[in-house]
Amino acid sequence: MKEKILTGIKPTGSLQLGNYIAVLKNLKALQDRGECYIFIADLHALTLPIEPEVLRQNSIDIAAFYLACGLDPDKSTLFLQSSVSAHAEANAIFQNYLYMGELSRMTQFKDKSAKMKESAIGLGLFAYPVLMAGDIVLYDADIVPVGDDQKQHVELTRDLVNRFNNRYGEVLKMPKPEINKVGKRIMSLSDPTVKMSKSDPKGDIFLKDDLKVIRKKIMSAVTDLGCEVKYDPENKPGISNLLVIYASMKDISIEEAEAHFVGKRYGEFKGEVADAVCDVIGKLQERYQHIIETKAYEEALKKGAIKANKVASETLKRIKKAVGLLTLE
Ligand code: TYM
Repeated sequence: MKEKILTGIKPTGSLQLGNYIAVLKNLKALQDRGECYIFIADLHALTLPIEPEVLRQNSIDIAAFYLACGLDPDKSTLFLQSSVSAHAEANAIFQNYLYMGELSRMTQFKDKSAKMKESAIGLGLFAYPVLMAGDIVLYDADIVPVGDDQKQHVELTRDLVNRFNNRYGEVLKMPKPEINKVGKRIMSLSDPTVKMSKSDPKGDIFLKDDLKVIRKKIMSAVTDLGCEVKYDPENKPGISNLLVIYASMKDISIEEAEAHFVGKRYGEFKGEVADAVCDVIGKLQERYQHIIETKAYEEALKKGAIKANKVASETLKRIKKAVGLLTLE
């Protein structure tokens, strides 16, 4: 039996290098390894205010970048979360099996709600991991490739599966997070102590950035005192982050990247990091542009929705039956 692999990206902003390294870059290998369910977490994007047109455009972009990275719609199932109604139904059921205490301990919720007035925090933001747990179990996923920041949510899904199966028997499949050894958390170029996200124009490398802009951002990335190019995240967070980026672009280990830069100065080092990133992103942008022009994502998403609906509705039936909801044929 092939492993089932599932992952998603939420269309809240422009895709950045962390998303590329955590998910997009690995798509081809994942697709050769198992049965892949790759989606756009558009319902999740509604958990914070977003303009409808921005949401639509971001969703198209993610689909196009998935395809540009080698996702083959004949091999993998590519879909929009909102075109599979089982996600919303699973959410309605699972919200009764995850608790306020554990949801309020989620780092992402704490970070995102920290600067908000309590009266403005939507229920969806709080219950974000409930919807995410449904995403994962509906496809009986064995493996969930994510960046380090999403690990806690996948762990909570595992708790839910344990809880649910203890009560109802072996209904849900136990998923496992899978995190890259190199590049599990890409940091901001302007402040290497915070993670790169979709919302910091200076510190993020966006996949749609002009290559000249990318080069400029890398050349002016915050570095550290000293002049040695060495991996030491504690004392040299800026240099270490750039080394991780270089190693990810070249598909080599950190040790190999370090060895390559022995005796080189920061300026030369940054120039080579910029070359490596621009080489990868430049090729990606060409493929992305072609997909946008031909609208190849439309057919792929339609086809994926049919398969995803079929699989998810079967699992949903199993879940409904287990909890005692009548499932009349
Ligand atoms: P999202 O859209 O924030 O990010 C998409 C993926 O990119 C990873 N990532 C990073 N990895 C390394 N360094 C970074 N700086 C960085 N920033 C983001 C994320 O860890 C993620 O893997 N909740 C998810 C979307 C989602 C999902 C799911 C994922 C919804 N349902 C089910 C997996 C399975 C999210 O917001 O990812």
